[in-house]
Amino acid sequence: MHTVKYIRLDHTVHTFQIEKGTNLRQALLRQGLSPYTKYTKKVNCGGNGICATCGVWIEEGAPLPQHWHDKAAERFGYARLSCQVKVEKDITIRQVEKWIWGGRRQL
Ligand code: FES
Repeated sequence: MHTVKYIRLDHTVHTFQIEKGTNLRQALLRQGLSPYTKYTKKVNCGGNGICATCGVWIEEGAPLPQHWHDKAAERFGYARLSCQVKVEKDITIRQVEKWIWGGRRQL
């Protein structure tokens, strides 16, 4: 089991446990911690790595990106695609401030 620490925009912290290898997007949705906004909650690619609306900042425990779109997100300073992240160790993530995709971090 691994611990996921999720920091919301209002700085509240949710902590929960998941099995190793669990998809991060699915874990968040099961916890009622949607990575989507009210606009993208119903209009997204369903976890196929295409729409980039499921982004979260990974503060600690980031796995290496495996999917081409998640690799690009990491490379260019955008939020990681939660649908393309398998949790392999304890992880701390932060909700992204966004309408659709959110902005870049300074590299
Ligand atoms: S849900 Fe579309 S890229 Fe993650």
